[in-house]
Amino acid sequence: MTQKRKPAVSGRTGRPTARTAAVRPDKGPDAKPGGTPVREVVAKYRGEKRALIPILQDVQERLRWLPPEILEEVARELGVPPAHVYSVATFYRSFSLEPRGRHVCTVCMGTACHVRGGAAVLEHFERKLGLQAGQTSPDHEFTLERVNCLGACALAPLAVVDGRYYGQMTEAKANAVLEKVKPGRDGGGASS
Ligand code: FES
Repeated sequence: MTQKRKPAVSGRTGRPTARTAAVRPDKGPDAKPGGTPVREVVAKYRGEKRALIPILQDVQERLRWLPPEILEEVARELGVPPAHVYSVATFYRSFSLEPRGRHVCTVCMGTACHVRGGAAVLEHFERKLGLQAGQTSPDHEFTLERVNCLGACALAPLAVVDGRYYGQMTEAKANAVLEKVKPGRDGGGASS
């Protein structure tokens, strides 16, 4: 699991700052009336405190991100301090504390990918999706990300769409992949 730098988190409560707390889970794109999946997921792992990481993975898989309220609910259900849950959620890159799109496009900008045209690939995704790297579309369909090396440099330039690796990425290949993921996608406005 890839680690990341910790974002700003309140020292008192362990909660993320307002930047990550803007969208409540019950108002998010996958909102379901009647509650969250936390209780069900925690029960699946029999309330084991040591299962915190798989629990967070499972919850994120269902919601696509980990809202502050959800992290607090996980802490309550497991009987651990919220600050502990936040520290784990902010430690690993694979956890997102901000809303993400239904489809996630990741373009590698590590050295090998960069020298083989990674910047042009990223620009093409940005044009095609109408997003800058790090943004999610207003309709929550797409998130565009850039990373520094995905550990498959032989495939450079590399992009990952919805978890699937696409090596030797070209504009034509990107178009085909996006068309397959969401036919008729033609760029548009963007929001962070
Ligand atoms: S630099 Fe892109 S996979 Fe390593």
